[in-house]
Amino acid sequence: MPPITTIEDLRVLAKKRVPKALFDYVDGGSYDENTLRANRKAFMDITLRQRALVDTSKRDISTTMLGEKVSMPVALAPTGMTGLLHGNGEMLAAQAAEKFGTKFCLSTLSINTVEEVAGAVNNPIWFQLYVFKDRGFARQMIDRAKAANVSTLFLTVDLAYRGQRHADIKNGLVVPPRMTTFAEPGAPVCPAVDRSRAFFSCGLSFERAQLGGAAARVRRCRASTPAGPAASPHSTRRSAPAARRGP
Ligand SMILES: Cc1cc2nc3c(=O)[nH]c(=O)nc-3n(C[C@H](O)[C@H](O)[C@H](O)COP(=O)(O)O)c2cc1C
Repeated sequence: MPPITTIEDLRVLAKKRVPKALFDYVDGGSYDENTLRANRKAFMDITLRQRALVDTSKRDISTTMLGEKVSMPVALAPTGMTGLLHGNGEMLAAQAAEKFGTKFCLSTLSINTVEEVAGAVNNPIWFQLYVFKDRGFARQMIDRAKAANVSTLFLTVDLAYRGQRHADIKNGLVVPPRMTTFAEPGAPVCPAVDRSRAFFSCGLSFERAQLGGAAARVRRCRASTPAGPAASPHSTRRSAPAARRGP
């Protein structure tokens, strides 16, 4: 494999490894993707000023963000379902952010729980909250975040209405993901899949704060199931735990 030198290299690699429905979820935007294009253009329009004949031996781009010192003016924004793209994705991303001296913001729609992610790093993480109609859920999440030593809470307010994402509709991806079994009719159903089905099918008012360890359990179960060859977690053929069908 050639060395990875650009974000585009990572994108190409992900396209090969990540189930199509999940790759498209990350790669695409809503409607005609005008905002996505405008965001990309905004980044392209930024030019860093080159400085010559200055002492470059002590370069420092550290700053503070929301009162916390960071090594660079960059943090990891919340992305839902990260743990479906890579096992323990949220924990690994939080550890990577910490290693590079910056912050990680955990999404409400995560696979690893806030306790798991906070426990995987030394410094406090940030937490993003979707305030669903169920305010008890929001309160519970805030309590859990506080108990997990989260230092900053982000409230996302632009999801009162979801933009139409064409690829997700075509791929049958729903958020949060809905479990469907991929076993042949009559084949024994893995108990973890069975348990997860109830867990994943409760829609946006889902009772538990985060998707929790269900996906990880499913993945482990698939690896050990005697019902047939275990699908690779990156298999595109059977892209569980993402949903294959709509509601
Ligand atoms: C795949 C994906 C998933 C996202 N999931 C969430 C989320 O769960 N919660 C949230 O508040 N924002 C979410 N966002 C929005 C990002 O956190 C970020 O605000 C957005 O991508 C704009 O930043 P950018 O211009 O740097 O991409 C998501 C974005 C992407 C691309």
